[in-house]
Amino acid sequence: MTSPLLAVIGGTGLYALGELQDIESHQPVTKYGAPSGPVRIGTLGGHRVAFLARHGEGHSVPPHQVNYRANLAALRALGATRVLALNTVGGITERFGPRVLACPEQLIDYTWGRVSTICEEPGTDVLHVDFGDPYTPALRAAVLSAARRRGIALVDGGCYGATQGPRLETKAEIARMRRDGCDLVGMTGMPEAGLAREMGLEYACLAIVANWAAGAGPDVDEVITLDDVLANVAAASSGIPALVAGL
Ligand code: HPA
Repeated sequence: MTSPLLAVIGGTGLYALGELQDIESHQPVTKYGAPSGPVRIGTLGGHRVAFLARHGEGHSVPPHQVNYRANLAALRALGATRVLALNTVGGITERFGPRVLACPEQLIDYTWGRVSTICEEPGTDVLHVDFGDPYTPALRAAVLSAARRRGIALVDGGCYGATQGPRLETKAEIARMRRDGCDLVGMTGMPEAGLAREMGLEYACLAIVANWAAGAGPDVDEVITLDDVLANVAAASSGIPALVAGL
């Protein structure tokens, strides 16, 4: 299959796009290895959409072990030119409380030790891609416009801080991220966005706020539980298929 395709990468709590019709499953293997799981390609809103669960459909791959290169290379080999990344995140600043959907426009990378480039093998061209605007402006604009047309509340902007995980952050780490200018915190935003740029893919992030980050909300001692995270993701995600259909 080589026709241009919109790809959606689902994060924690988002392991399928239930509304996809006429699904074909693909198990590509790339020069970087296998992706996190099968790529499901189907029809949504009259166009072809590919879906891949970033952590695997059974959530077996932790953020620091996701083969981000294989995931993106597999989607590209199947014909994807645009990638909408769904990222479950914690909220740091006031506009980004639980159940908010946001389309950030900046990011800061705090991850370490992840393979973060396709320029690794000897003989590969060294790329210094422009990454001033880490998310593709045209795709961000399309996401914001689709949300407006479909009546889905979506915060325009914000800075995503990508942390290493898999543990959550300390209150001091979140306080530092706030001082740095981060509004959102998640564990999978990088190296995915940088690799997408190196691979020539359009890429935007749709962040789903699952919880207040450590010490950030009205109850500074609130303990973050997976049950709360999953409940908030489920509640906040109901409009996502309609948004994707409008892209
Ligand atoms: N921190 C990092 N990643 C996350 C969080 C968080 O609070 N919530 C969901 N993903």
